[in-house]
Amino acid sequence: MSSTSPKIYALHENTEWFPPFARAFEAEGLEVEEWLLTDGVLDLDSVPPEGIFWSRISASSHTRDHGLSKDYARAVLSWLEAHGRRTVNGRRILELEMSKVDQLTALRAAGIDTPRTVAAVGRDSILAAAKEFPAPFITKHNQGGKGLGVRKFESHGELADYVSGPDFEEPADGITLIQEFINAAEPFITRVEIVGSEFIYAIRADTARGGFQLCPADACAIDPSTGKPIMPPGATIAPDEDTQLFSLREGFDHPIIGKYLEFAKRMGLEVCGIEFMETADGRILTYDVNTNTNYNAVVEAAAPRSAPRALAQYLKGVGA
Ligand SMILES: Nc1ncnc2c1ncn2[C@@H]1O[C@H](COP(=O)(O)OP(=O)(O)O)[C@@H](O)[C@H]1O
Ligand SMILES: [Mg+2]
Repeated sequence: MSSTSPKIYALHENTEWFPPFARAFEAEGLEVEEWLLTDGVLDLDSVPPEGIFWSRISASSHTRDHGLSKDYARAVLSWLEAHGRRTVNGRRILELEMSKVDQLTALRAAGIDTPRTVAAVGRDSILAAAKEFPAPFITKHNQGGKGLGVRKFESHGELADYVSGPDFEEPADGITLIQEFINAAEPFITRVEIVGSEFIYAIRADTARGGFQLCPADACAIDPSTGKPIMPPGATIAPDEDTQLFSLREGFDHPIIGKYLEFAKRMGLEVCGIEFMETADGRILTYDVNTNTNYNAVVEAAAPRSAPRALAQYLKGVGA
């Protein structure tokens, strides 16, 4: 253990994703303490410990029964930053994680093309928001992750039935997005991993088999009762047990990387995976900013360098 590296506090609410990061921290000789923000006590008169505070609170926390985590994290990050503690993906970035409106407006301000999107606040506004969209179009939750609420509609009538029916999924923050359906040139999306100011690698995720639920954790794709892969919404080919939805997009070198690095720098976004699709008519549309980095083992095994390891090295540098 290096005596010069300050302790790293990992603020999160999902223990499942942590082991690859724990191994990377250990390999770098960093001391790390997990701080689970599910519930707890915060004494506003207390002074935070010394250290680097890396937040990895996820927009899908409410799907793990951790609906209070985002607000607890808001409180803790505000307290830490008020005391001048160094946060990584701190208070501002938490908002970016929690809101696709925040992501899309920030991307557009940075000159990055995004799909046409309208936010409907409250269930009753969804049909009005969709009026000017030609079918097909997509709905998704503003507070997303794991493909939450992502659905494709072939007509406005189908949307009306959905919104008034029993299958309607209430978004965690009451905001549903209506978005142009991106007609992809080929059935995959690309996710660009950035740590610090560095491009680490790009991932390719198969949308023919993966549909809209492109979550790198096995738990998202496996039916817990049968242990078998689920046919995800939007998938056109059934996944089988050996299906690997994620692969390394080898040799990816494109001007969009430079734009993303600039965007991340401008936002103070230190760890992220940004998703885009290439359209049949030759456009690149960026639609999702994840404020974490990849830990999918198959991608990691093929990658020129490890994203969790790059993160550990970066955090070590932050504290040096
Ligand atoms: N506008 C769109 N058109 C077509 N497919 C989309 C669109 N938006 C999202 N998808 C598909 O749904 C997946 C999940 O959407 P995304 O916006 O990334 O939400 P999440 O934050 O839940 O990952 C994407 O990876 C992509 O495959
Ligand atoms: Mg996504």
